[in-house]
This record gives sequence, C-alpha cells and structure tokens, in this order.
Amino acid sequence: MKTTILGATGFVGQRFIQLLQGHPWFEVTVLAASERSVGKTYADAAHWLMDTSRPDAVGQKTVVACTPEAVEKAGGVDVVFSCLPNELAGPTEEAFARAGLPVISKASAHRMDADVPLIIPEVNPDHDGLIAAQRKARGWSGFISCDPNCSTTPLALTLKPLLPFGVKRVHVTTLQGLSGAGYPGVASLDALGNVVPYIGGEEEKIERETGKILGRLHPEQSRIETAKIEVSASCNRVPVLEGHLENVFVEFDSDVSVSQVREAWDQFQGAIHGLKLPSAQPPIVYRDEPNRPQHRLDVLTGKGMSTTVGRLRSDGPRRIKYACLSHNTIQGAAGGAILHAEVLKANGALG
Ligand SMILES: NC(=O)c1ccc[n+]([C@@H]2O[C@H](COP(=O)([O-])OP(=O)(O)OC[C@H]3O[C@@H](n4cnc5c(N)ncnc54)[C@H](OP(=O)(O)O)[C@@H]3O)[C@@H](O)[C@H]2O)c1
Repeated sequence: MKTTILGATGFVGQRFIQLLQGHPWFEVTVLAASERSVGKTYADAAHWLMDTSRPDAVGQKTVVACTPEAVEKAGGVDVVFSCLPNELAGPTEEAFARAGLPVISKASAHRMDADVPLIIPEVNPDHDGLIAAQRKARGWSGFISCDPNCSTTPLALTLKPLLPFGVKRVHVTTLQGLSGAGYPGVASLDALGNVVPYIGGEEEKIERETGKILGRLHPEQSRIETAKIEVSASCNRVPVLEGHLENVFVEFDSDVSVSQVREAWDQFQGAIHGLKLPSAQPPIVYRDEPNRPQHRLDVLTGKGMSTTVGRLRSDGPRRIKYACLSHNTIQGAAGGAILHAEVLKANGALG
C-alpha cells in the first residue's frame, strides 16, 4: 500500500522512513511537512538524525504540503501516517479522513474523541470496532485511529495482563529521553547534566489515555467503557537520547503475590499473537537482574518494539512496584503506528 507521512521531516517522521524501508506491505511514496520544507527535496529539507543512512530514493523526493490535494497531486496514497505537531494535527487529519483515507495518528489531537480508537496493537486492537460508528457520525469514508502518548504505552501494556487481579490505583514516575521532545527539542543548556521535572501536558495524557486503552468496547461498538483505574503521573525529562523509563506503583482490589504478577507477564503474548505481523515482537520482556531495565542496555530489546520490565517487588498488602522501559520513537511512536496499521490491514479495516 502507498503511504504518506505528514511531518516526514521531524524526528518521528524520520523514524517512520527508517522503519518502513523494505516493509513488505507499506511503501513511503509521498512526504509532507510544513511550508518551510515544501518544494525542497527531502535531503535538503530534513536534518537526518537516524543511525542508518537516509534511503537515496527518499532523499530525492520533493516535500509537499500536508493537504489531501497536494498528496493526491504527488501520486496519491492508500494510508496516511500522521506525526504532526498536536495543535495542527486536528483539522489536518480530519481533512484526510474526509477525503476517504485511513489516518493512523501519533498526535494527541483526536486521542480522546469518543468515536476514535486509541490503540496499542497488543492490548486493544478490537477497539477498531469504533471505526464504523466514526464514519457514520462524521459522514466520511476515511477514518482516524490514534496511537497513545509514548509514555502511556509501556504503562498500559504492562497493566493489561494484571487487569484480572483488579487494578485499582496506579502511581507512575517517568524518566523520559530527550527525543521525546522532537527536534531540536530541549535546549542543550537545559538538558545536559540535568533533570527537568516537568513535561507540558504529559502527565494529563498518561492519566487520561490509560483508562481508555484498558477499557472495553461497548457491545454496540459505539463507545469505549473506560477502565475504572485511578492513575497519577509525575514526568521528568532526563539526559538520555532515546527511551522512557517508568517506576510504577500498583494497588489492587485484593491480595496479589509477586509470583502471580510475574506469571501474568510471562504468559502475556498480546492480542495480535498468531497474526504474524511483520513488526510484531514479544510485547513484554522481563529481566531478573536487580539493576535492569536500563536505557543504554535495554532500549532496543525486540528491535525497540518490546517493553523491558524488571525490579518487580511487593510494596505492602495489595501493592506491587516495578520498573519498565520502552523506546519512545519506535514502540512509542513510528514502530507502534506501523504495527497498528498492520493489525488494521490484517483485520480488513484498510481495505
Ligand atoms: N518524539 C517522540 O518520541 C514522540 C512520541 C510519540 C508521539 N509524538 C508526537 O509525534 C508528533 C511529531 O513529533 P516529533 O518528535 O517528530 O516532532 P518534530 O521533530 O518537531 O517534527 C515536527 C514535524 O511536523 C512538521 N510541521 C511543523 N509545523 C508544521 C506545519 N505548520 N504544517 C505542516 N507540518 C508542520 C515539521 O515539518 P518542518 O520540518 O517542515 O518544519 C516536522 O516534519 C507530535 O505530535 C508528537 O507529540 C512524538
């Protein structure tokens, strides 16, 4: 299928280009970005930041505007990946859905819309059942399906296998890598040798999104019944390049042992297990060493598509605590969105 990336010159856009190189189902055919880049070759417009070479064919493409008309003029596509700034993504993604295209979005603009799925492929791919209701309500033949915030992903993923124990309350403290702020991101004088205990809007996103992802698709497939879990987040920017590490404290309705939790994670294969999707990796990998996971050692586990978990211990009656780590621009952004598109294709939602 032919794809476009809206925001192709940014950090996440580049990760999409890197991960889609040689993909068996999706080919990057149109690159779109801001007026600053439109009309330039991608090589001139984008300051390439990936650790593999920029594909030659991509470098020679001319960047177009983020409108359905410009993308159509450049050859047209079947699928849209959006990694636009949040404030711009809302109306732009709607224009593409109205033009009949499926939009897989990394931006936050539509994540909490009642008729828009918010999907982690291994956790709640069935929420794509909302797409029909969205089309009907909005009168468009395309659709928008969103990915969560990059710091929500490892939290919701590691909580999913624990839901049968009755998860009641969750506290999470994050240590988030610099690439989470895009490029050029946090000024070096703020970032180096420093920890900044504030990331605008991040805590609210984790607190809101987790319940929607862990919720249940209503039998009429018209809305999500949000999981009744109290989530409180505290977010920190730390001077590592990639990876968000999280210290998670969970309180259950009743007593749960550490070994029960460990067994639940070990047995968790994810909702897409068996579909043999090209980007799928083991969703959760547990490490027994007392000092793991670590950004430098574990962030690329499962090609950056696995959440590494460790330090599971009791925190008193009905409570446990653990640490988890996820690659924010692979599992938490481009890789997660590509897997999301793969599951939609496998389920027939991409046509
Ligand atoms: N970084 C992460 O780890 C991460 C993880 C999950 C989700 N996200 C989300 O993904 C999105 C992109 O993040 P990023 O880190 O890639 O940001 P970024 O590096 O700042 O890239 C922003 C992209 O948007 C384009 N853009 C900016 N203003 C535009 C406009 N007015 N019209 C059209 N295009 C415009 C830029 O194009 P020009 O180069 O032409 O300016 C660039 O391609 C954001 O919504 C972010 O919240 C990021």
